[in-house]
Amino acid sequence: MQLSDKKATLSFSDGSAPIEFPVYQGSVGPDVIDIRKLYGQSGMFTYDPGFMSTAACESGITYIDGDKGQLLYRGYPIDQLAQNCDFLDICYLILNGDLPDGAQKTEFDSLVTNHTMVHEQMRIFMQGFRRDAHPMAVLTGLVGALSAFYHDSTDITNPHHRHVSAIRLIAKMPTLVAMAYKHSLGQPYIYPKNDLSYTGNFLHMMFATPCEDYKVNEVVERALDRIFILHADHEQNASTSTVRLCGSSGTNPFAAIAAGVGCLWGPAHGGANEACLQMLEELQANGGVAKVGEFMEKVKDKTSGVRLMGFGHRVYKNYDPRAKLMQETCKEVLSALGLENDPLFKLAMELERIALEDPYFVERKLYPNVDFYSGIVQRAIGIPTSLFTAIFALARTVGWIAQWSEMLSDPDYKIGRPRQLYTGSQVRDVPTQR
Ligand code: SDX
Repeated sequence: MQLSDKKATLSFSDGSAPIEFPVYQGSVGPDVIDIRKLYGQSGMFTYDPGFMSTAACESGITYIDGDKGQLLYRGYPIDQLAQNCDFLDICYLILNGDLPDGAQKTEFDSLVTNHTMVHEQMRIFMQGFRRDAHPMAVLTGLVGALSAFYHDSTDITNPHHRHVSAIRLIAKMPTLVAMAYKHSLGQPYIYPKNDLSYTGNFLHMMFATPCEDYKVNEVVERALDRIFILHADHEQNASTSTVRLCGSSGTNPFAAIAAGVGCLWGPAHGGANEACLQMLEELQANGGVAKVGEFMEKVKDKTSGVRLMGFGHRVYKNYDPRAKLMQETCKEVLSALGLENDPLFKLAMELERIALEDPYFVERKLYPNVDFYSGIVQRAIGIPTSLFTAIFALARTVGWIAQWSEMLSDPDYKIGRPRQLYTGSQVRDVPTQR
């Protein structure tokens, strides 16, 4: 980051001496005021619950312009990447800073492909879960459990160890997610096949059975690969910030990623895709498009506690570029599968049309986000609603591990330890008679 010639001065109304702070600028986006000396010089903290105005770190991986609805991975616009690359190209880009050339792609794809198996004892670990366990509960456990198998790459200060862990996590997440799905069905786990693409292999592990050959549908493979691309990273969102904070203690990468899986599960974050599809199914069951107006009145009534899931975003105050690409993918998959008249897709399009004209949404700059259409595509592919967030976690693993590694490669990084505004009881003695 570059020191700006601007300064920020904090003055106090009680006559205390003003404090001057340096201002830094990045390559694009808002400048930052470096307040690291504030507490030392004023005895005061800043107060920013939810980090609405706080840059927690410096990063060169992903840039979002919320007003423009722009998303860049290492400077490349998401729409161009979704059009011209596959998910492993994006993994290489996010991890290494640029797109792979031919030789680099061949080597990287082979490296990932040859790490897709998990330790055979993971099957025994799986037996501890009920068949109806939520896949995110299973995935949180499985990812954390990986740290029990890989003691050979736990020196987080060693870039090679960090790279080995990154490859292992990117390669094994599809296997773990597919195992969680097969476990829920009571079907045998399907081993990875090295002659399939990353996404084709995942579809095979998900939907093949030992009883017959499974042919990967190329339209579905391309659509799911694009879904992975759209979910790969997203700046300092809640789960990425969780991975950074967890990793800042020096814990192993598998534990840090397991923390990210747990955070992503929430309905305000990655769990919104599951919640959105449940919302659409419930609306469809209770009258569908004819009842949209009534439903929207509930959404606008604060006392109802009902939100339009898949809408709104902390950063995007314009259309989430991923939602546009997801809608296009929806149309492609539905028509390829002969589901053009999918009632849920029509319902979602009607909800979007009404919301984008309604002052409640327009005034609050609420637009569809990545989760609004992703569930419809996944449902059309045959992925159960309960697995949507696990698929999001599969795709986001590369972003999490790249951000984790970026943090650890900064020689000045420290363990994260926010402070608070304390409003509890002041010191008092324990009563001797109780
Ligand atoms: C993801 O951070 C990321 O980058 C996340 C993500 C990623 O890739 O990592 O993009 C993935 O998590 C996308 C978001 C998925 N979540 C949802 O779709 C759940 C529904 N959306 C929201 O709950 C909400 O919009 C958030 C959580 C996404 C953002 O919340 P904020 O920024 O804290 O905004 P807010 O809750 O303060 O809302 C501002 C206003 C409020 O009304 P007022 O108090 O101003 O009257 O907008 C209203 C809210 O009530 N509002 C909504 C709404 N979202 C916000 N009202 C109805 N429906 C909604 N969906």
